[in-house]
Amino acid sequence: AEYTSILVEREEKVGIITLNRPKELNALNFQLVNELADALEEFDRDEAIGCIILTGSGEKAFAAGADIKEMADKSPIDMLLGGFESWGRIRKIHTPVIAAVNGYALGGGCELAMHCDIILASENARFGQPEILIGVIPGAGGTQRLARTLGKYRTMEIVLTGSPINAKELESLGLVNHVVPQSELMNEARKLANKIAGQAPIAVRMAKEAVLSAFETSLEEGLDIERKNFFLLFATEDMREGMRAFIEKRQAHFQGK
Ligand code: HXC
Repeated sequence: AEYTSILVEREEKVGIITLNRPKELNALNFQLVNELADALEEFDRDEAIGCIILTGSGEKAFAAGADIKEMADKSPIDMLLGGFESWGRIRKIHTPVIAAVNGYALGGGCELAMHCDIILASENARFGQPEILIGVIPGAGGTQRLARTLGKYRTMEIVLTGSPINAKELESLGLVNHVVPQSELMNEARKLANKIAGQAPIAVRMAKEAVLSAFETSLEEGLDIERKNFFLLFATEDMREGMRAFIEKRQAHFQGK
């Protein structure tokens, strides 16, 4: 597909998507979010891709939020019909997605990072939900995903003041997996992505689904989903291969079957 607002590359089993409006600090207009959902789904359908990295172009921003210039004159109906369902498509990707946050991740940018499964951040990264400063509130999951990760009190402060938070603090609070120097960010993301892409693909998919169900269900239902996914994996050749390789003291060769 032809994209105008993102760059799409592949390096063996890893797909890399770069938000590419650097002059606007990768502000998320509807076109970009739609292209992003398309590209993620394309990688998701590709059995050769085992992990996806999402990052921003330039040194300053992952994404500085939804495009304020595009939103400024919109009506509620414009917003309703404008393509917000792209966010739901991003949420439903089965392949693990690593956010490599290389600078500002504000508003929709912070929410986009939180749609990902693992968040790596550069030392200069700044996260935040500054919507309150322009008279709105987060609209792509910010209040919910922050509250589920940080709890009520820290989330209230972030959402009610709009003040940014640095990557180190979010690492200590469990929202950022690792903070690394900016020059190392993509290397670290690639290392992690390759490690994930080297696992048994169906097990990876079942694992992601099981972890995400923790945010959607009661403990009882979540445990049930986990157990069923665990049992289902006993139908895969990769499970036989993985266990046999352990017993035979050799490396496993997974085939995604
Ligand atoms: C449109 C944006 C933008 C945005 C930056 N730009 N953020 N354009 N929408 N969200 C543009 C600026 O207008 C400017 O273009 C250029 O990018 C560079 O930005 P500067 O402000 O000059 O850079 P700097 O002084 O370094 O400040 C960086 C910044 C600031 C602190 C990140 O740009 C900023 O506060 N941006 C807005 C952050 C924000 O409020 N995000 C939440 C949006 S609401 P020109 O052409 O003027 O030079 C939201 C709702 C999500 O995200 C709902 C779900 C989708």
